[in-house]
Amino acid sequence: MSATDLTALLALGSIALFVVGLKRLSRVRTSRSGNALMASGMLLAVVITLIEVGLVDYRWIVGGLLVGGGIGYAIVARAKATAMPEIVARFNGFGGAASALVALSLFWGVVVEPGRDAVAADLLGATSAVTLVLSVLIGSVTLSGSILAELKLRGTISGDPRIPARSALMLLAVVGGLALGAVAVFGVEDVGVAAGLVIGLVAAALLAGVVLVLPIGGADMPVVISLLNSLSGLAAAATGFALSNELLIIAGTVVGAAGLILTQIMCVAMNRSLLNVLIGGFTETSADHGEYGHVVSADAESASMVLEVAQRVIIVPGYGLAAARAQNAAHDVARALIDRGVDVRFAIHPVAGRMPGHMNVVLAEAEVPYELLFEMSEINQDFGQTDVAIVVGANDVVNPAARNDPSSPIAGMPILDVDSARRVFVIKRSLSPGYAGIKNDLFERDHTVMLFGDAKQMLDDLAGHLQAAPPP
Ligand code: TAP
Repeated sequence: MSATDLTALLALGSIALFVVGLKRLSRVRTSRSGNALMASGMLLAVVITLIEVGLVDYRWIVGGLLVGGGIGYAIVARAKATAMPEIVARFNGFGGAASALVALSLFWGVVVEPGRDAVAADLLGATSAVTLVLSVLIGSVTLSGSILAELKLRGTISGDPRIPARSALMLLAVVGGLALGAVAVFGVEDVGVAAGLVIGLVAAALLAGVVLVLPIGGADMPVVISLLNSLSGLAAAATGFALSNELLIIAGTVVGAAGLILTQIMCVAMNRSLLNVLIGGFTETSADHGEYGHVVSADAESASMVLEVAQRVIIVPGYGLAAARAQNAAHDVARALIDRGVDVRFAIHPVAGRMPGHMNVVLAEAEVPYELLFEMSEINQDFGQTDVAIVVGANDVVNPAARNDPSSPIAGMPILDVDSARRVFVIKRSLSPGYAGIKNDLFERDHTVMLFGDAKQMLDDLAGHLQAAPPP
């Protein structure tokens, strides 16, 4: 077998690892191994590329691996699970930046110092030049958009500032950037001018990323992060075309497609079209923190007495459960109820928490059996036959305003119909709004009882009372 055959075979193996890994990521139960498979596929791809290119100073590679790996480890090791969306945003930005930097380095080899490196010398074809420009453009948009998304999620930049003539500005930045790149690659003899034009391309693309993300906020941010994830994949695929590297094209396309599918899933979960998210921008200006009328509250002991006689209970986790790290306590309550013969299930809203799959991840951490977790579409119709719905640190995803108030900022977003249950317990610390910043009428309904307190403390108390209660 020739060396070319061997690398082709290894490349096939790497692609297979990506595809199988991605498939396994779609189930919580198999996601760890899916992640490991995809990481192995990427490692194999790096090895294949090094074998193919051959003439590489390995000290740079090892140095890069150590520095990059060290930074990645340091970022993730200290991170809280609730900060995952910010980290995903940052890594998307790194991905975009990496693609743009590779494309810029190739551009340097093609235009500024022709003949300097062997890979660049083969790149004078029109297709490669176009993909080179696209890679710089998309990679830079991803970088600035992702940095901004992270700052918004952290709350460093608050509000959703309006940008005058936003669509026109965006179009100008993208078309202008493309034009600058095209002239730089095809139409300029002078090296200095070409380099200046490429700097213009990068600046226009960075501006486009800022204009894209700055006015978007609130409940639309997960969609934007997922879209940026998709863009980082497309930037990598464009770089793959420029380099004629099939593996990079495939890996980039897989990321691009997966990000786009996730974006679509989230748009459906929020009942928004992608165009509406990007053009309309969710705004908090119409937010109604509202005054509450009559609100009934109780303590853990009284609530546990109601639960003791319940037959069907659905637990609805939200961001507050993750923030309070109350997943083990929630599992304890579920176990105490199951021990009493109660039918207990967890209802998972697709955008509960702060990242896709957030609730699945935290509940898996507490080893809540997967069989007890039900997606919104599977369980929503069952709230009507449920004795008690226990809402733990969730707010927007159970807000009936999404269904009843067309003027609400979350109007049309599918919600968990907890208000159809015979009784609703809501565990949270106060009447403060959730992420969308709006009042929740559920809290003042006759059959709702607020259990004010930290989610972990309240669930621990509930579990304690249930365990101490006489058997049914
Ligand atoms: P939210 O609507 O954000 O409500 C969370 C509630 O948790 C708050 O009202 C807060 O009330 C309570 N809370 C916070 N810390 C608590 C603690 N220690 N103990 C008890 N309660 C606590 O959460 P949700 O219902 O899960 O909805 C998610 C929202 O985030 C949606 O608007 C969604 O669009 C958005 N979003 C989702 C994602 C993804 S992909 N999941 C990403 C970004 C944004 P108190 O302060 O009164 O305790």
